[in-house]
Amino acid sequence: MRFDVLTLLPAYFDAAHLGVTGRAFGELGHRLCLHNYRPFSGNVHGHVDDKPYGGGPGMVLSPEVMRDTLASVPREGRSLVVHFSPAGPPLDHAAVLDLASFDQLILVCTRFEGPDHRAVERYVDREYRVGEAVLSGGELPALVLIDAVCRWLPGVLGNEGSAAADSFATGLLDHPHFTRPESFEGVAIPEVLKGGDHGAIHLWRLREAMSRTQKRRPDLWEAFKRDRLPQLTRPEQWCAWQVEHPEDWDRPKPKGWKGQ
Ligand SMILES: C[S@@+](CC[C@H](N)C(=O)[O-])C[C@H]1O[C@@H](n2cnc3c(N)ncnc32)[C@H](O)[C@@H]1O
Repeated sequence: MRFDVLTLLPAYFDAAHLGVTGRAFGELGHRLCLHNYRPFSGNVHGHVDDKPYGGGPGMVLSPEVMRDTLASVPREGRSLVVHFSPAGPPLDHAAVLDLASFDQLILVCTRFEGPDHRAVERYVDREYRVGEAVLSGGELPALVLIDAVCRWLPGVLGNEGSAAADSFATGLLDHPHFTRPESFEGVAIPEVLKGGDHGAIHLWRLREAMSRTQKRRPDLWEAFKRDRLPQLTRPEQWCAWQVEHPEDWDRPKPKGWKGQ
């Protein structure tokens, strides 16, 4: 995968050479190419923005600068131009999976009041927002996108970090995790995790993931029941039923049930 980033602040992207994305851009050979708007300013001062028509605070990125910087980026395979904006749809799990299927993502980072609207309309394929608060520029959203997409590129995560088992990919939030010591400040780990009964551990984790999702993200929980629950085994379905009806815990369990 090739990422091209248009930015006034390329130093932000030093961070992409650390950790999981560092592995993607290092030994795995994915590419991160940075393009500064400044050489495309068209003026001796290197100004890339101008005052907004109609007045008001802030500066607006020139449409010519955005167009000319974009035109300097070589296209490879199936490519997509992305701009970041609080007005875009959320960069969620489905969006990240879709973005990971492209050969090249061209990420347009803007600052101040953002870009000239005409350039966005003409040259940008998609906009995404990251979070529900305004940031100072598109660089951090671009790093978020790069990190989230890299996790889905083959070989980037080792076995122990399989993205498919994480929150959202399963349709649920992740279950809680525990490590040593067995008792921490008087709080013991759940008994089932010590037994080595993998079936019981699986169902315990699933129940925890379901309860958490039901409480914290009712929207995801409804989608999970609608789309994924019918594909689960009977004990797993029983788990879900129980999460919704904790008062009925003592009812007879289905055949094959090994949960608590
Ligand atoms: C200071 S912001 C401009 C905010 C803009 N005036 C508004 O109210 O929507 C500068 C740039 O940061 C980026 N940005 C800020 N917050 C963002 C967010 N939550 N998601 C995606 N991009 C964001 C956008 O590219 C935006 O053009």
